[in-house]
Amino acid sequence: MDKALLSRTAAGMVAKGRGLLAADESSGTCEKRFKSVGVECTEPNRRAYRGLLFGTPGMEQFVSGVILFEETIRQKSDDGVPFAEALARKGVIPGIKVDKGAKDLALCPGEKVTEGLDGLRERLAEYFKLGARFAKWRAVITIGQGIPTHTCLYANAHALARYAALCQEASIVPVVEPEVLLDGDHTIERCEEVTEATLRATYAALAAHNVSFEHTILKASMVVSGKDCARQAGVDEVAERTVRVLKRTVPAAQPGIVFLSGGQSDVDATAHLNAMAAMPGLPWPLTFSYSRALQNPALNAWRGQPGNVAAAQKAFHHRARMNGLACQGKWTAALEKQAA
Ligand code: 13P
Repeated sequence: MDKALLSRTAAGMVAKGRGLLAADESSGTCEKRFKSVGVECTEPNRRAYRGLLFGTPGMEQFVSGVILFEETIRQKSDDGVPFAEALARKGVIPGIKVDKGAKDLALCPGEKVTEGLDGLRERLAEYFKLGARFAKWRAVITIGQGIPTHTCLYANAHALARYAALCQEASIVPVVEPEVLLDGDHTIERCEEVTEATLRATYAALAAHNVSFEHTILKASMVVSGKDCARQAGVDEVAERTVRVLKRTVPAAQPGIVFLSGGQSDVDATAHLNAMAAMPGLPWPLTFSYSRALQNPALNAWRGQPGNVAAAQKAFHHRARMNGLACQGKWTAALEKQAA
């Protein structure tokens, strides 16, 4: 465990004005995203698309690190340079998704537990050799009638803690992601309650497994109204509730917190982050680790056509720049309208 390296990596990930690009969609998720724009989900297409994003001129101003998928960390750019190396040359830290996905949790209808601990020590050693300096593991918490259960929260927290400990042992910074889904008609009050319980369970497990908070990054979901709830909370309410829960549960020793976008609109994800980052006296830097909210416009512009690469890169650059401003509380709706 190289603590100096872990500290450097974690500080770099949440450096001022920068955040993470989540490009670690599994081939199944990628298929869904590609299908929405009529692109066949083949290995060459996945490589072309990721190459487009990573090759966007100037993206490194706003993007501190990229979360790669297992397949992507083994792929190369058009110049024949492994993606991880090409990113590192630009000062962008390569990361890797290491979980094997959320599976049905036995005897807990409607709930999931994330798998992937078997053989993880060996896989982490290999990913380190391939250039990965941080990792991601996503747990999924669903809100519904009588759920989440205590069983689900603790099963997921336990897996996150074992994953995080293995990462630190391998000198890889763990991104700990317990995502509370926004699907459902629940209120924002209910989301706040569940998010607090989820984070309490997660931090209790991390402590029980000797995980060093100084070398851990939390990837949090924001406290928002359920997608189908009649009352949709505004930007300020989302920001206040999210920061309140984080302050109650996340140790100040942690180097930073990044957020997922979770199906929010691109601009909502930016506006929410901006409102939180603008709050005075926060104990940790807050930034983004978005997949959809960074990539949607680029994917729509690309549509699998080589002739659209420049337009897609421009769209991606714009979203990255907007979020780079938002994580400093410097974004405005007016800037949003300026051409990329
Ligand atoms: P979204 O920003 O699309 O929610 O994805 C982030 C992520 O990495 C989920 O694990």
